[in-house]
Amino acid sequence: MKFFASFVAIGLFAGFSLAQDTVQTAHVTLRSEGDDHSYPLAVPADGNPVLTYSTLPIQRIDAPDFNVLEACVIETPGAKNLSSTIAADGVTQQVVIDPPQAVTSITCQGTCVETYGSCFGPDGQYVGACCNGLCIASKCKPWNIGSQA
Ligand SMILES: *[C@@H]1O[C@H](CO)[C@@H](O)[C@H](O)[C@H]1NC(C)=O
Repeated sequence: MKFFASFVAIGLFAGFSLAQDTVQTAHVTLRSEGDDHSYPLAVPADGNPVLTYSTLPIQRIDAPDFNVLEACVIETPGAKNLSSTIAADGVTQQVVIDPPQAVTSITCQGTCVETYGSCFGPDGQYVGACCNGLCIASKCKPWNIGSQA
């Protein structure tokens, strides 16, 4: 289901990016093990790589306002597996890099829907993937919605 949704989202990104005249920006924080010397990076979702110029081994990337795992390419010197998790605040999605290593660049493309925005329009048309959460009943909800009473 999740993979199907991502697949649909990628197909629609292509169409939407033509109509969209404002480019979204992914404001990420690259975190090392132990969070020492972690650093922020702003990545406009215009398809151009943003170089980090850093050799700090990165374990997690905070992605509070863009669906980085699906819509960005994270370049590293070595092989890796990427997965997603939620930070201790219960809201911020993170990309987990296994094994931790330097990130040389991040490239993002497409658009996403902000939390509480509409992921489906009034006529039921798909608007886009949620930047940081789940599309439930046509609205992007925070990841922790299921754990709230
Ligand atoms: C990625 O995960 C697969 C399956 O668990 C594993 O076989 C592979 O070694 C992992 N690759 C890296 C670079 O960790």
